Amino acid sequence: MMIRMALMAVGLLGWMILPVDAAEKDPMKVRVPADQLAAAQKLKSPVAATDVVAKGKELYEGKGTCLKCHGVTGQGDGPGAKLVRPSPRNLTNHEWQKARTDGELFWIIKNGSPGTGMVSLIPSDINETEAWEIIAYIRTFGAK
Ligand code: HEC
Repeated sequence: MMIRMALMAVGLLGWMILPVDAAEKDPMKVRVPADQLAAAQKLKSPVAATDVVAKGKELYEGKGTCLKCHGVTGQGDGPGAKLVRPSPRNLTNHEWQKARTDGELFWIIKNGSPGTGMVSLIPSDINETEAWEIIAYIRTFGAK
């Protein structure tokens, strides 16, 4: 029994971290739970996006650790991307950028996407204002 459980744990771990068929999981599917979606979509950034893009970039590449998974150019190809399943979001996806409000991105950075490598990063790594600054930077990926 113990051995079987240990094997199952190893198998599950392998499934979660091995780079087999690594791919994004249905990027257009909304991640915020239905009962919180309306509120999340209405959240407005307290920072003026144009003023904080450089700060956001610094945080994205630095203490926010985002680039480890999402990559320097936001394509979801950072050095840690191979270690997580599903794959990190390709933040340069125009269709996805258009579909998500800033508030939804904020919700995910704060709460994570359950069952994925996208864990909550507030307050462990960054504070709320810093998350909004990073969002301003992430939006520049969609403009390319
Ligand atoms: C350990 C790897 C990892 C790190 C570090 C990481 N992410 Fe993610 N991120 C992921 C994965 C994996 C997904 C895809 C989750 C899913 O499919 O539900 C994701 C998804 C997202 C999404 C998309 C949510 C949606 O609604 O589609 C956003 C936005 C995001 N991450 C922002 C960030 C930001 C900003 C940081 C840094 C503050 C960051 N991530 C750090 C792995 C990571």
